[in-house]
Amino acid sequence: MYNYTQIDPDKCEFVAIAGVDEIPNGERLFVEVDQEFIVVFNVAGNYYAIADLCSHDDGPLGDGEIEEYEIACPRHGARFDVRSGEALTLPAVEGIPAYPVRVIEDQIEVGFPLE
Ligand code: FES
Repeated sequence: MYNYTQIDPDKCEFVAIAGVDEIPNGERLFVEVDQEFIVVFNVAGNYYAIADLCSHDDGPLGDGEIEEYEIACPRHGARFDVRSGEALTLPAVEGIPAYPVRVIEDQIEVGFPLE
């Protein structure tokens, strides 16, 4: 039901962030929820949400080029898997948050961990 992610969806509160027609295939949407900046991607019809914050030097990540499931940080080129947030290449060594995403009645919902 959920895309692969490091955050347990059972311990999240889901927030509707957009309708499915607002993020067509290959597009992305930047959103802020409770001062968390995230970017949501539509990759081949599946939605993935990651923090818009590179773990290397806190640069904005969301504008990076995406190739299949990998996004490259625009600043120094570290690559991350948008499905899991895993850091794939240097200079990043730590992953970034990857949030669970679900679609309910054509609304894209992102899960944020409960405090
Ligand atoms: S800030 Fe992203 S690779 Fe350096």
